[in-house]
Amino acid sequence: MRSNGDRWDITTSVGATALGVAAARAVESRHADPLVEDPFAQVFVDRAGLDVKLPGTPTADADSAETWSAMSTYMGVRSRFFDEFFLDATQSGVRQVVILAAGLDARAFRLPWPDAVTVFEVDRDAVLEFKDRVLDEESARATVRRVPVTADLRDDWPAALTAAGFDPSVPTAWLAEGLLPYLPAEAEELLFERVQQLSAPGSRIAVEHFASASTLVSGHPRFRGMQQALGLDIGELFYPEQRGRTPEVHLSELRWKALATSAKDLAVAYGRPLDEDTLEIMGTVELLEAVRL
Ligand SMILES: C[S@@+](CC[C@H](N)C(=O)[O-])C[C@H]1O[C@@H](n2cnc3c(N)ncnc32)[C@H](O)[C@@H]1O
Repeated sequence: MRSNGDRWDITTSVGATALGVAAARAVESRHADPLVEDPFAQVFVDRAGLDVKLPGTPTADADSAETWSAMSTYMGVRSRFFDEFFLDATQSGVRQVVILAAGLDARAFRLPWPDAVTVFEVDRDAVLEFKDRVLDEESARATVRRVPVTADLRDDWPAALTAAGFDPSVPTAWLAEGLLPYLPAEAEELLFERVQQLSAPGSRIAVEHFASASTLVSGHPRFRGMQQALGLDIGELFYPEQRGRTPEVHLSELRWKALATSAKDLAVAYGRPLDEDTLEIMGTVELLEAVRL
């Protein structure tokens, strides 16, 4: 169960979900024709010291193999979609990027950003400390100006972002990937209101929106292996309260032009359709892009 002000590090609670996503990207990166190539994903998993039973490791079993195969295809689809979002936004002239709940997202190290882009990565202190330590030890070089911002997205995160040098007068490309279910409904509402206040015209946002996943993901045997390996019950980490409106409706009401695509359709378009079990477990997942008019 969640509570206001609860804390975590990279191997506990919501922090371990960042590790789970990195593990899925590590698996997808080894695919013959990967949707994402993330050279840091496996490094993060190794350094965290948690045995997540990835395929090809000595402790892998049939249960975990099934889980990681489903997870890695979906994570590949969402990574590709959001990579394209950022490349498109920056090619169109946007020079400020904010990755909300960045976790172990390595886009600042793996995407070919144009000159003069700044990427702000917002997450909790212990998550960013782990990430920075590993990247330092690896002598990883960012391909962009990267600014980590420690904040809790249930609190006054705009203050932390602004203090870190964020400029609300220029267009921004925002990302909320793997975040919304971990926020209380009120913090989600406030997140879009705050993004609106901080966004100059021409700003863009991309959002992953799970319409119906929580109970199935938590209880389904297909996800058991991964959750056991991470020491989590993912459903327990979601804030279950009903959301007032979808991100698409909310952004439209704020006068953003929004377009949602189902993960199912995108996976087909990328040539990596999701299997029926995965689709049933995940429910409807939408990947949304919007531009502030
Ligand atoms: C599933 S991971 C996704 C990480 C990253 N976006 C990705 O896709 O690789 C969830 C992330 O949300 C962060 N997070 C969740 N709730 C948060 C909060 N209230 N404040 C700051 N970060 C939060 C966690 O620390 C974790 O890194």
